[in-house]
Amino acid sequence: MTAFKEGDPTTLGRLYGRTKGHRLRPGQQQLLDDMYPALAVPEEGPVTSQELFGENRPLHFEVGFGGGEHLAYRADLLPDHGFIGAEPFVNGVVSALQHIRDDRLPNVRLHMGDALEVLERVPDAALSFLYLLHPDPWPKARHSKRRMMNPGPLDLFARKLKPGGIFRLATDHPVYCRWSLMQMAGREDFEWMGERPRDFRDAPGGWPLTRYAEKALREGRELWFFQYRRTDSGTP
Ligand SMILES: C[S@@+](CC[C@H](N)C(=O)[O-])C[C@H]1O[C@@H](n2cnc3c(N)ncnc32)[C@H](O)[C@@H]1O
Repeated sequence: MTAFKEGDPTTLGRLYGRTKGHRLRPGQQQLLDDMYPALAVPEEGPVTSQELFGENRPLHFEVGFGGGEHLAYRADLLPDHGFIGAEPFVNGVVSALQHIRDDRLPNVRLHMGDALEVLERVPDAALSFLYLLHPDPWPKARHSKRRMMNPGPLDLFARKLKPGGIFRLATDHPVYCRWSLMQMAGREDFEWMGERPRDFRDAPGGWPLTRYAEKALREGRELWFFQYRRTDSGTP
């Protein structure tokens, strides 16, 4: 399932964390049954804009969309673009379906499961945007290999973004913030798009706060925003 070597620090091929929360209410189960099959990314084969939307559109991919509010916001903002969101947590998928229904968004497809498995099937250099917002921090050092911000997933992100494509990352966890800076520091395939340290603290335009970001603010924690451009270096 993964193209990565044994021993690479990656989260590939394993899903950590929960996939079920509160039992779905009958209405939520109905929504899942009614809407998800038509919007689901096919289980096999290449994941292309043509396959999903019947035409070539700029493609966006959100890893771990949580409740789907950011995915829906972006899809509404950019109706001619195609959006793929992956989230293993069934309650999150139901919440995203509610946004898609209520906001009448025809340009979103979902995968209930591991984002990296679907991302592997996206053609190289096909993505215009990739979002990783408030990934699970796995703050204990012994769990650091579970973090998304590790060489395996980052190599995959780089491979799937086109040159000039944008990678957006947010975190509210100081350990994860430092770790992410370390992971990105030595990479030639991404360049930071900010100009001054302050740019880590202010979300660029068109970047709404997610549920986790709002929760962090309510609890008095700080937020960090990272925006990188995919360079030509190591282009597939
Ligand atoms: C801390 S939550 C953040 C959710 C959302 N992005 C937000 O900012 O509100 C992290 C999310 O990543 C999801 N996740 C963890 N591993 C994942 C994977 N391999 N593929 C897709 N999503 C994943 C979790 O289920 C969880 O919903």
